This record gives sequence, C-alpha cells and structure tokens, in this order.
Amino acid sequence: MKVLVTGGAGYIGSHVTELLIERGHQVVVYDNLVAGHRAAVHPHATFVHGDLLDQEQLTDLFASHTFDGVMHFASHILVGESMQNPWKYLRDNVAGTTNLLEAVASAHVRRFILSSTANLFDKPQHIPINEDEPLIPGSVYGETKFIAERMLMWMDKLYELKYCCLRYFNASGAHPKGHIGEDHYPETHLIPIVLQVALGQRDHLTIYGSDYNTPDGTCIRDYIHVLDLGEAHIMALEALADGRSRVYNLGSGSGYSVLEVVETARAVTGHPIPLQYGQRRSGDVDVLVADSSRIKQELGWSPKYDHLQRIVETAWNWHKNHPYGFGDRKK
Ligand SMILES: NC(=O)c1ccc[n+]([C@@H]2O[C@H](COP(=O)([O-])OP(=O)(O)OC[C@H]3O[C@@H](n4cnc5c(N)ncnc54)[C@H](O)[C@@H]3O)[C@@H](O)[C@H]2O)c1
Repeated sequence: MKVLVTGGAGYIGSHVTELLIERGHQVVVYDNLVAGHRAAVHPHATFVHGDLLDQEQLTDLFASHTFDGVMHFASHILVGESMQNPWKYLRDNVAGTTNLLEAVASAHVRRFILSSTANLFDKPQHIPINEDEPLIPGSVYGETKFIAERMLMWMDKLYELKYCCLRYFNASGAHPKGHIGEDHYPETHLIPIVLQVALGQRDHLTIYGSDYNTPDGTCIRDYIHVLDLGEAHIMALEALADGRSRVYNLGSGSGYSVLEVVETARAVTGHPIPLQYGQRRSGDVDVLVADSSRIKQELGWSPKYDHLQRIVETAWNWHKNHPYGFGDRKK
C-alpha cells in the first residue's frame, strides 16, 4: 500500500513509518517539523515538509500521489498547554484535521487511521477502560481528538471513508535498534523525564502526590510500547478492507505506579534517581488503565513489550546513546 503518514517525523509517526517500510509499504511523510525531527524519518520514506494548515500544499500532495490509506499523527499533544492556550489547539489541530479530511474525501482515499487519546476518558467509571466508557474529554487537547472522531463518523456516512480511531494510553519505549526514540521538547512524559535524571540532566524527579488510592500512593498508568502501537496501526489499516469503521482502546493492559517506573529505571540504569514529592496536579486520577480486549479479539493484536522492564530498557538504549535526542531541539 502507499500510505500517507502525517506527523511522521514525530515520536510515534517515525516508528510506525519504520514498521510500514519494513513490511514493504511505500510511505510519504508530511510534517511541518514544529515538533518532529527530519533525522527521525526513515531514508526510504518520501519526506514532504508541509503544514496541514496549508490547503494548497495539501491539494498538491494528493494530486502527486495516490494513497491507499492515511495515518494521522500530526497534532499538538500537550494536555496542560491546551488549557493555557486553547486557541492554538482548536485552530491548529481541528483546522489541520479538517483540511486533511477534505483532501482525503476529494481524492477518494478509502482508509484512515486516527491517533486518538485516553484523554477522552476524564474520571472514568470503570477500570480498565473499554470502548463503551462515556466520552468526556479531559482537556481542550482531548476535545480536539473528540471532534476528529466525530468528523470521521460523518466522513464514513457521506464519503464511505472507513476509519479506525486508536485511543492510546502512554506511548513509551524506543526502537530496539536504538536509532530512533522519543525526543519531545519540552518533555512531559514520565519515562523520558526519569531517564533524564539518570543522564544527569535533572537533579531529581518530582512526584506529584503520594496519597492517591493505590498500593504505594502514586498514580497508576498504562504504558504501551511504541512498536506495539505501530503493529496495531498496521493491523487496523489492513482490517479496514472489510468495509467496517471501528474504534479501539490501546494499552498494554498492565498498570504501573510512578514509583514502580522509578524502581524499574533504577534497576535498568544503575542510577539512584533521587525523588522529591510535590503537590497533586489538578485533573490527575488514581488509575488509568486500558481494556484492549476488543482489538485483541477482533484483530488478534497483542503487545509484545508487555513488561515495563523491556519498555524502559529500549528507552534507555535510545536516551543513553542520544542524550540530546536528534540534536535539533527547538526552544
Ligand atoms: N505520545 C503519547 O503518549 C500519545 C498518547 C496518545 C495519543 N497520542 C497522539 O499520537 C500522535 C503522535 O504523538 P507523538 O508523541 O508522536 O507527538 P510528536 O509531537 O512527537 O509528533 C507529532 C508530529 O506532528 C507534526 N505536526 C504537528 N502539527 C502539524 C501540522 N499542522 N502540520 C504538519 N505536521 C504537524 C510535528 O512536527 C510532529 O512531528 C498525536 O496525534 C498525539 O495526540 C500520543
């Protein structure tokens, strides 16, 4: 298949591009590099430096290529920033997705995979969280994904576009070869922040809250390896051949507390990783863990990296060999 990967210079998009190319697919990456890295894009992918807000460039892109499917990763991704600067998220994420979908409909592309989010489940009633949980976005960022999911529902009705929304929990780890990995600036994800302490780039880790209703008092989250996410994307793209749109929650299914992540990182890195405790952050809940049984049953997906130790080992392999990521950090 010939696949368009928006945001393919970013963390998850670059790993999925790599897997697609390994499977013999042709990939065109479309990315404005606002947060991504040119060096993260596989050399066999065609790279187009472009913005989803540029409708003319999108029209040219779809005129130059006939795509069998689109995987849409391009988006601003910070929950906290979206509450301080909602317009950036509403304008760029919603308008970018709208422009992309208009181009997809005009070009009669039939398959679309959306990177959606666990941030659609604010204060869930049931843990682990399955697809029947009510959708209550927890932030403006989450709202932009909710809007994208709704747009896709209409695209199916109006244009027969078959789509799959993959609602991820915390993407983590790196390619086991160690040549690509996570390089966000600013970094907000727990595992890379813990590893920055091990690298001496931070003095300590601050844990926000020690009195959550969990065995050790710190929040429990679901960490899914980026290559397991990649497999799910490819399986979903292939599955859409049956003409049925779908939605799946994606996590490794095992929750780990913040302290368990720190203990694992201490064992993997040999560094003591000093800790401090701070106030709880508003909006954080005790436990967020996905129920991924639907994608397991329907597509036969199962995570290969289902132990935190393996996830942290692959992340450490990347970070220790690339302490400054791809070396092009924007401030
Ligand atoms: N990282 C996670 O844990 C996580 C969890 C759930 C969902 N997601 C979703 O997965 C997707 C990828 O996340 P990531 O961690 O790889 O983020 P990332 O920031 O590393 O990648 C996003 C990419 O999109 C590009 N981009 C942003 N706006 C663009 C635009 N207007 N036009 C063209 N390119 C643009 C950026 O330059 C970047 O390369 C996002 O949609 C995110 O919401 C991520």
